[in-house]
Amino acid sequence: MAIERTFSILKPDATARNLTGAINALIEQAGLRIVAQKRIRMTRDQAETFYAVHKARPFFGELVDFMVSGPVVVQVLEGEGAVLKYRDVMGATDPSKAADGTIRKAHAQSIGENSVHGSDAPETGAIEIAQFFSGNEIVG
Ligand code: CMP
Repeated sequence: MAIERTFSILKPDATARNLTGAINALIEQAGLRIVAQKRIRMTRDQAETFYAVHKARPFFGELVDFMVSGPVVVQVLEGEGAVLKYRDVMGATDPSKAADGTIRKAHAQSIGENSVHGSDAPETGAIEIAQFFSGNEIVG
């Protein structure tokens, strides 16, 4: 399988509970490398652009409010089949359905406050990475 990159966000519920290190440990234990990382306060504009695909969903407003409610950690993860691998490590969007050993099983609080985001495909990953990182901030 090819070396790939995916985009990750540790969401405000995770930073509020000081879980950056605990989640990063699960990411690294899965064989993914954190090749870029920064802690930011997302602007409303950034959050609305990032989640534009969900604009028509009833939870869009709540989702944007949540993502700007506290610091987030944005990351680029690299590894073999990184997109799918990270989706496996995150677990199901709804933590009550997430498998044992996953980030969301261990840490997520609800479908909205679900601790992490990961890209759903390599193409979306590239777009998401470009929204938050310039090329020279990613060191593989
Ligand atoms: P994420 O992977 O960041 O992509 C879209 C997000 O929308 C998803 O994780 C959830 O946090 C959020 N989401 C999905 N369904 C709901 C819902 N029913 N209510 C609130 N937030 C939701």
